[in-house]
Amino acid sequence: MKNKFPIRIIMLFVWSFVFSSSTLLAQAADIGTETALIMTGILTAFFVIIIFFVIFVLEGNIEPIVKFFNAAWAYVVPQSAEKAIQMDEDFDGITELDNRIPPWFNYLFGATVIFAIIYLINYHVLKTSPLPQAEFSEELASADLMRRVRIASEGEINEDKLAALKDDASIKEGMEKFKKNCVSCHGNEGSGIVGPNLTDQYWIHGGGVKNIFATIKNGVPAKGMISWKLVFTPKEIQQIASYILTLQGTNPPGGKPQEGNLWVEPKIEASDSVKIAVKS
Ligand code: HEC
Repeated sequence: MKNKFPIRIIMLFVWSFVFSSSTLLAQAADIGTETALIMTGILTAFFVIIIFFVIFVLEGNIEPIVKFFNAAWAYVVPQSAEKAIQMDEDFDGITELDNRIPPWFNYLFGATVIFAIIYLINYHVLKTSPLPQAEFSEELASADLMRRVRIASEGEINEDKLAALKDDASIKEGMEKFKKNCVSCHGNEGSGIVGPNLTDQYWIHGGGVKNIFATIKNGVPAKGMISWKLVFTPKEIQQIASYILTLQGTNPPGGKPQEGNLWVEPKIEASDSVKIAVKS
């Protein structure tokens, strides 16, 4: 029993690690390797705690745990009793102690060996997880795909050919994004704080859905508004711009005074309607 106990503990660790990682790694393709690893760790800890709890606490037998930790830490001859284990050789006053290797150190070593075996089987025999190079290529490929999707959707929706969305669902989407990301500078009702009032007919960067779309997409970095094109897809920017247009004329209380020029929607929808503003 005395000798078997640590082995049982180690086997519990191994078993729970293998169990949780195999189920998780099976899904790694869906949730990403990093997340899978973190979850494996959490699950492992969870299993170990449960097993400890069931075996020892529920059975009212915590003595082996206490013994195990005592043995792991207190096996080494303490400094006060070193004289007894001092070896005979003496090199210029430097002597050697015949002390034991602390058991926890041995367990750690054993754990690294087990880890290495699992690692070897996982990465090089079963090849269930990709090696770093493959993982890197995978990430590059998926980033490239994302970029293509973005470019493709941008080709469809850009400031040259754009109409305001009118349907309730789009306006609601736009409103939710506006409330989450824009109100800190533009105010709850778009009445303006640091950023200008978005409810009047005066625009610094041009009114109308195309100009508003372009301003949100490119931002005004010099004045403190970031470019939102890395945060939102073109479709989402279109929704937000459409929502902003619904604020026209709402005249919320405490609105910021007008800035920029009076915007009059051009009669003919020409591609050069961008940046056409009538001077007030
Ligand atoms: C950190 C503060 C800040 C945040 C957050 C912010 N803006 Fe702005 N925004 C500004 C400032 C400042 C300006 C004025 C730029 C200028 O003076 O040229 C501006 C200008 C604009 C304009 C042009 C107004 C005009 O008169 O031409 C639009 C449209 C706009 N913001 C929309 C948004 C939207 C939509 C969001 C959220 C997705 C947002 N802003 C978030 C600070 C902000």
